[in-house]
Amino acid sequence: MTLPNAPVLRVEALRVAYDHPLGLVRAVDEVSFSLRPHERFGLAGESGSGKSTMALAILRMIKPPGHIDGGEVWLEEIALSQLTPEAIRRLRLAGIAMVPQGSMNSLNPVVRIRDQIGDAIADHGTRLSRQDLIARVRSLLSQVGLPADTADKYPHELSGGMKQRACIAIAICLRPKVIIADEPTSALDVVVQRQVMETLGNVQAELGAAVILVGHDMGLMAQFVDRLGIMYAGRLVEVAPIRDIITAPRHPYTRLLIDSLPSLERRGTLRGIPGLAPLLRALPPGCAFHPRCPRAEERCTSDKPAVRPIGPDATVACHFA
Ligand SMILES: Nc1ncnc2c1ncn2[C@@H]1O[C@H](COP(=O)(O)OP(=O)(O)O)[C@@H](O)[C@H]1O
Ligand SMILES: [Mg+2]
Repeated sequence: MTLPNAPVLRVEALRVAYDHPLGLVRAVDEVSFSLRPHERFGLAGESGSGKSTMALAILRMIKPPGHIDGGEVWLEEIALSQLTPEAIRRLRLAGIAMVPQGSMNSLNPVVRIRDQIGDAIADHGTRLSRQDLIARVRSLLSQVGLPADTADKYPHELSGGMKQRACIAIAICLRPKVIIADEPTSALDVVVQRQVMETLGNVQAELGAAVILVGHDMGLMAQFVDRLGIMYAGRLVEVAPIRDIITAPRHPYTRLLIDSLPSLERRGTLRGIPGLAPLLRALPPGCAFHPRCPRAEERCTSDKPAVRPIGPDATVACHFA
């Protein structure tokens, strides 16, 4: 039995490394967080901070030279590391669905949308009669705001926004409990972005799913998510409800990110802050952020700050926060 407010997803001390000729790259370093049913969780950070790696690791989709080398992911009471490859395959889409980064450009160009959705349903073991399949595709398309005749079209006949909606339709075809969307709107213009986010919000509400939104547009995050996690060099350095993190960020990195946004509504894109993002292969000792941190002191150069709870829904990894 699952309690009504028990987390739908729990990520515990997850670690991912990539083997490079020059050494090991730690792309995800002991990341922990949990997601309540219906919650919208954002994951933001500079490019290369490990967001996509984390999204893929949750679904155990990391491919060589990468590997998961620690931690656990729980979907309700299922420990994902204990599942067979076949069980994991079935759980993708049906339990946790992913709209991968750049997915709208990786739709199969020679397969009609109807068949791409149909294949996703069939691949995951759901057998439907032809009649039922047509009806199911129609209802999925309408759920994501696409006209019924989209089913007969090829990807090149669709606009960017329509392709992204089609990807969302594929992601939700088996009614997942968790949807992970990796930069779903970064290739779209602002108006279409908003429409696609609205669609994602609508399907989430209809399914009662939780969402992890990966991105770096703080305006979008502010409008969409309930809680935000900030990644830096593979670590989740701060997690807090969106209002709190925008009005009172605790981690110096988060503070710099927020302060660098245009002030009025804190809108804009995370472009990063002065100084170079660290090379994951050669991270500074202690707190990885210390060379860029205005608050850094002696101990930051040697002691790695632990992730500490600072409220029921918030954590921070800084000696001074
Ligand atoms: N396929 C890969 N092979 C080797 N290293 C990778 C691969 N994908 C990511 N990495 C490493 O992991 C780091 C984090 O990448 P990624 O998760 O894509 O970050 P983000 O999504 O935040 O931009 C990169 O800087 C890179 O060093
Ligand atoms: Mg990415």
